[in-house]
Amino acid sequence: MHSNIPNSWFRVARSEELSAHGVIPLHYFGKEFVLFRTADGQPHILDAYCPHLGAHLAYGGRIEGQTIRCPYHGWFWDTNGHCANIPYPNKTKPKAKIQTRPVLEVNGLIMMYYHDQGKLPDWEVPQILELNSLEWTALRLVKQWKVRTTLQNYMDNSLDVSHLSNLHSRTFNSAHSHGVQIDGPILTHRMSQKYNLSSLAAGKLVLEDGSVTTIYYGPAYDVSFYWTEGKLKLGLLTIFTGTPIDTEYLDISIFYSVKKVLPFPLSLILNRMLKQDVLETFEQDVNILENKTDINNPVLYKEDGPLLQSRHWASQFYSENSV
Ligand code: FES
Ligand SMILES: [Fe+2]
Repeated sequence: MHSNIPNSWFRVARSEELSAHGVIPLHYFGKEFVLFRTADGQPHILDAYCPHLGAHLAYGGRIEGQTIRCPYHGWFWDTNGHCANIPYPNKTKPKAKIQTRPVLEVNGLIMMYYHDQGKLPDWEVPQILELNSLEWTALRLVKQWKVRTTLQNYMDNSLDVSHLSNLHSRTFNSAHSHGVQIDGPILTHRMSQKYNLSSLAAGKLVLEDGSVTTIYYGPAYDVSFYWTEGKLKLGLLTIFTGTPIDTEYLDISIFYSVKKVLPFPLSLILNRMLKQDVLETFEQDVNILENKTDINNPVLYKEDGPLLQSRHWASQFYSENSV
């Protein structure tokens, strides 16, 4: 089967969603998984179905030490997917194995490496220093959307510079790409723009020069740093994550953190405004993404942004049987 799902690291949960000894079902990539936290606090992911008689381990499965116990007949499975024990007297445990998936807990998110042939990753999503700094607010969710689109369309939109001052004219007055830098699975895109801060300045038109650097760690996770150059040196960090639910729908979650430049409670108001702006801006994109079609040979101008470079970079994440 052809797939538009790349091989990469994907957000599958927020750390706070998986409590100690927590067990939750995941439905991503058109498949079922179980995500659980063992007694040592580490998150693990197994393919969902118990090889014995097919129960879904996330619906009633319980953590016992470093194992997850199937709700149906009580077999124990370890974090390598091996059967650790069966509750039948005098029986040797079976050799059956459940497929495990690489997991990473970083920047408050639980990430899973998905590869359509089960290959292991040779790179990881790094810790973001700002998120461990007291100068920045804690990372918070802006919103989670289920969007009928693909990561390719999402990525095109993200590097598309010319739509900013048109679709998002409420926020951007103009935007200019300084091109991309590529380093293996990491792509960095720098832009400068003029922000229209009228929504922040109570309706008064304020134009501020600003810059954005977006770093893509694979096609499903990117971190942006937004700065303004004027009197108010605003700093905003966003993490955009897109996880395919199947070949048709993408689970998009956006997170944000704000540099603490203003005293409380002004900072609180500013944070709310920035969050609201990120939310409303992306909802304008959702409306486009859900209803657009794919153009194989788009008519592109330099002003559109580095879409061809990013498409070429992204192609490394697709297997032969991906599209
Ligand atoms: S189905 Fe899991 S123990 Fe029987
Ligand atoms: Fe956009």
